[in-house]
Parts: sequence; structure tokens; C-alpha cells
Amino acid sequence: MLEIQDLHIFFSISKKKLHAVRGVSLNVKAGEVLGIVGESGCGKSALAKAIVRLHAAHSTQISGRVEYAKKNLLTLSEKELEGVRGKEIGMIFQDPMTSLNPTLKIGVQIVEGYLKHHPDVSYKKAKEHALSMLDLVGIPYPEMRFEEYPHTLSGGTRQRAMIALALAAGPQILIADEPTTALDVTIQAQIFELLKNIQKKTGMSIILITHDLSIVAGFCDKVAVMYAGKIVESAPVYTLFQKPRHPYTQGLLKAIPRLDHSKELPLIPIEGTPPNLFSLQKGCAFSNRCSRASFLCTEKQPELVTIGAEHLRACHHD
Ligand SMILES: Nc1ncnc2c1ncn2[C@@H]1O[C@H](COP(=O)(O)OP(=O)(O)O)[C@@H](O)[C@H]1O
Ligand SMILES: [Mg+2]
Repeated sequence: MLEIQDLHIFFSISKKKLHAVRGVSLNVKAGEVLGIVGESGCGKSALAKAIVRLHAAHSTQISGRVEYAKKNLLTLSEKELEGVRGKEIGMIFQDPMTSLNPTLKIGVQIVEGYLKHHPDVSYKKAKEHALSMLDLVGIPYPEMRFEEYPHTLSGGTRQRAMIALALAAGPQILIADEPTTALDVTIQAQIFELLKNIQKKTGMSIILITHDLSIVAGFCDKVAVMYAGKIVESAPVYTLFQKPRHPYTQGLLKAIPRLDHSKELPLIPIEGTPPNLFSLQKGCAFSNRCSRASFLCTEKQPELVTIGAEHLRACHHD
């Protein structure tokens, strides 16, 4: 469905280059839900935005391939890309106000989004579709909400409206970048329930980006763990939670509460902070925080290699 090969992203910041994504390869199959996890600043959003080329061209350098429907999205013309963005690949972000237009009624935004990709449909039909989308995402009284502006909605309803907008054109893939981070946990659970139901109904693929492994456990089919711009481990979700094989993943799992562990077991945070992407050491980027790091780890970057069924890891240790 979507295949990313050796993606690199550099940001130019006052004459310096920041290597934010350092050779990421991954794929998402039809109907699959992929989670991408990692600490803040590891390059998750940069990766997500690069898929549909939302980065400012003058300050961003991107190489690699993003293959969708036999086309490399990185080399499509802006016009061709317009037909993919929103229509084939929908996006939802952490802050709905970045995607919703504050000066337009919610309903009108969904209608316009739909008409842009379906220009032959009448306004009346498009409005019916918009109302059905508001209903689909669980917003009560769609007719009334259709007429409201984003700022008059509660956080949860606004997030639902953004999901309705992202799904209006019926995308094959939905990219959700920390879609619930700004919401409280009960609303968060409702939103994931909703996304799961829509995913089952439509069979679309989802790329979910989050810093929260517990969300991944309940929602995703497979997971890629990112650290300092690279994937350090990826596996089917069950395998990753049962047998994490990268010290960073193991650290992440020790830092979250688990129902299958004794309440007496303490939660252990990962010591230290992620490296500075301006000046990375030559070996494994995690080595300065890794209790198992050896001389080799500080000298040579480990490659991401297969260690089991659909299980990949980048680490020099057994
Ligand atoms: N538009 C940008 N210009 C310059 N630097 C950026 C830009 N976007 C992200 N970065 C930097 O790239 C790194 C990765 O950021 P990001 O992808 O937002 O991380 P995450 O989403 O995992 O928290 C960070 O060091 C961040 O400061
Ligand atoms: Mg982010």
C-alpha cells in the first residue's frame, strides 16, 4: 500500500544542517495499522509530514522513496500530489486548530474538502455526505454542528470534526500524528474506539504516531520504534511487547505500567536524554544511555536486521 525506502530528512537551521530522519524504511499494507513510537524529538512528525510533502521546500532536504500506488510521492508534481493529499492519504494532527480553518463553519470545511476531490457532486449531495461524516464520528446533532465554527466546539468534538474532515474524501491511508495527546484519557479512549470502528468498516490503513506505547498495544497490528531519526526495532505488536529485543524498546516498556506485571515492580525511566541531532556520535545513537553499551557500540552504527518473523532490530548485542 505504502512503502518508504531509505528516507532521509535534513532541516537547514541558520547555516547548520539537522539530520532529523536518518534512513527510515518501512511499509504499510492494505488494512494494516502501523504504530510509530519514540520519545519527543526523534523524528516522528518529520517522517509523517514527509510522506505527503508538507515540509517547506526551501529549508528541507528529503531523499529516498515514498512509494504509493506505484508512484514515488517525493517526485510527483505539486498538482499530482494535490490529488493524493486528503483524497488518498488523509491526515490528522495533535492540534485540530492546525487543520481546521477558524473562519469557516465545520460543515462547510467538510463539504469543501469533499468537493475538491469530487467536483462533479452537487452541493446538496456533498452536504448530505458531510452530515453523514459528522454522524459517523459520533457528533450528536450533525445539522446543528454543521453550522458551528471550530472555536465553539469542545476539544473532543473538535478532534472528531477533524477526523470527519480527514475521512470525508474516503482515503486509503490515514496518518494520525499524536491525535489525542491534547485530550483527557476518557475522550482519548473514545477517539481510538471510533478510529478502530471506522478502520474496520472501511478497510483503510492507518499510520499512528505516538509517544505512548500503551496506545499502540490496543490499537496497532505492528510497531516501529524510532530513536534519534532511525528505526531501532520493528515487529508485530504482540512480538514487540512479548519479546522486545532492543535495549531502548526494553527501556520504554519498563517505564510504563503493565497489567501482566506485579504491582510491586517499580517503573524505571530511561536515564539520560536523546542525543543532539546536530552532532551525533559515530556509533549507535543510543549507546550513551545503554547499560549494555560496549566499545563496538560507540564505534559502529548497528544495522537494522531481521531477527525473527517480521522482527527487525538494530543492535550489536545478542
Ligand atoms: N520544520 C522544522 N525545521 C527545523 N527543525 C525541525 C523542523 N521540524 C522538526 N525539526 C527538528 O527535527 C527533530 C525531529 O522533530 P519531530 O519530527 O517534530 O519529532 P517528534 O515528532 O518525534 O517529536 C527535532 O530536533 C526538531 O526540533
Ligand atoms: Mg511530533
